Amino acid sequence: MEFDVIVIGAGPGGYVAAIRAAQLGFNTACIEKYPTLGGTCLNVGCIPSKALLHSSELYHEASASFGKHGIAMEGLSLDLGKMMARKRDVVTNLTKGIAHLLKKNKVTALTGTGKLLGQGRVQVTSEKETQEIKGKHIVIATGSKPTQLPFMPFDDDRIVSSTGALAFKEVPDHLLVIGAGVIGLELGSVWRRLGARVTVVEFLDRVLPPMDKAVSKEMKKLLTRQGMKFHLNTGVTSAEVKDWIVHVCARDKKDKELTFEADRVLVAVGRKPNTAELGLENVGIVPDKQGFIGVDAHFSTGAEGVYAIGDVIGGMMLAHKAEDEGIALMEQLAGKAGHLNYDAIPNIVYTWPEVASVGKTEQELEAASIPFKVGQFPFKANARARCMDTGDGFVKIIADETTDRILGVHIVGANASELIAEAVLATEYAASAEDLARTVHGHPTLSESVKEAALAVDGRTIHI
Ligand code: FAD
Ligand code: NAI
Repeated sequence: MEFDVIVIGAGPGGYVAAIRAAQLGFNTACIEKYPTLGGTCLNVGCIPSKALLHSSELYHEASASFGKHGIAMEGLSLDLGKMMARKRDVVTNLTKGIAHLLKKNKVTALTGTGKLLGQGRVQVTSEKETQEIKGKHIVIATGSKPTQLPFMPFDDDRIVSSTGALAFKEVPDHLLVIGAGVIGLELGSVWRRLGARVTVVEFLDRVLPPMDKAVSKEMKKLLTRQGMKFHLNTGVTSAEVKDWIVHVCARDKKDKELTFEADRVLVAVGRKPNTAELGLENVGIVPDKQGFIGVDAHFSTGAEGVYAIGDVIGGMMLAHKAEDEGIALMEQLAGKAGHLNYDAIPNIVYTWPEVASVGKTEQELEAASIPFKVGQFPFKANARARCMDTGDGFVKIIADETTDRILGVHIVGANASELIAEAVLATEYAASAEDLARTVHGHPTLSESVKEAALAVDGRTIHI
């Protein structure tokens, strides 16, 4: 079989690249080694985690907040099996949807493991057969997998990765989370809301380390209020499973030894690229020390006709980044002006409240000696947030001191994941804080806080 484009991996990077390629007239194949399409995101990432975050939030609201609204709850109970079944249904429907989309766009979907054999040659190995296919352009979109700590490998029972923590059969009594990054806080939140004691151990001095410091501070405060316990500046040193309990030793910055006992441990210390056994050596690609594939601005690996996108090339490990890289690459291959603005990629954490940001943090701008001004507005001063009883958090806008151009927007608050879209658009169009401040926002909406923060950049907020 011969194709114009062969995509290896059907995650958000790969399947979107394949669909766009087909739309542009390329005869396209997409190879996936798992029986279902959609990659990490649909099967064991974005989708199942958001399904459980939503269900667990409803349970928490019913048990903790309904009373305030005059809604009496009696006999509230949790059917975890049903909650998990709903999550599986959401995943199944969406992964089947991808199969339908590939078919509709006439992409040839091949089940099997793809391996580069040489320029333009890919081997596909399935349980049934091994075949060789040929392609003018080959796209590596093989994604990533959870990183293990060498002294506490995943046992898929007591010591688990995100995949295990998305499928516990019962609510843990005590869940120890290693890593206060996105996965640690999102999945820690799920199990905390469902009743587990949750302790988070983080190596660095704050939660969500790459985010703006104001965000880290606010989230630690709010999650602590929800009952999560944090040990920052603390590194885990060993772990042993004895009688169903994991005994974990750690050391803090002052070299004090700490011990934890938990019935489940979630290790969420980052992810590493899937590049092993891909046959990279057959086309002369040498990954970096961590296994990431280096690419140029056009996603070329340097090997003739071989490109890479998504988690496997590093940077922000996000589904929408992978998708837009796939689209940009295909448009470039079709002679169009495919482009991705890495300064305008939203980063969202689906905790309660949510966190969403785009652009630079205050700390990044300070390090780069770029003068800036800041406007901040708290949700407690927003009328809609008051109606919804969700006054936690703020909108913070950072603008260039001289040009007023928006350099970064950081939101902690209800619906931050949706509110950030306006800030992303503003960033993409190089808007100024004044542009946002002059844009009429509906009343009463949470988005008025974005306008107020933009007004605050110039010291003229109305409602505080
Ligand atoms: P992947 O989705 O990892 O897909 C790669 C695919 O390639 C896989 O299906 C794999 O089986 C296949 N493959 C690998 N090697 C081969 C081979 N040799 N042959 C054939 N197939 C192969 N991101 C967000 O933006 N929002 C979120 O809310 C979010 N939540 C997440 C929650 C969790 C718990 C996790 C773990 C991740 C989350 N992410 C989220 C990150 C997101 O899932 C990834 O950034 C995204 O899936 C990357 O897409 P990709 O296409 O590069 O790789
Ligand atoms: P992460 O990089 O977000 O966080 C890992 C955390 O673990 C960091 O804070 C790090 O300092 C800490 N850490 C590392 N080694 C440690 C150790 N030995 N002891 C204690 N702490 C240690 O990685 P995470 O949470 O595993 O997520 C992986 C990727 O998946 C992220 O890069 C993210 O982009 C993506 N993801 C995105 C989501 C979203 O967009 N909402 C949701 C979940 C994952």
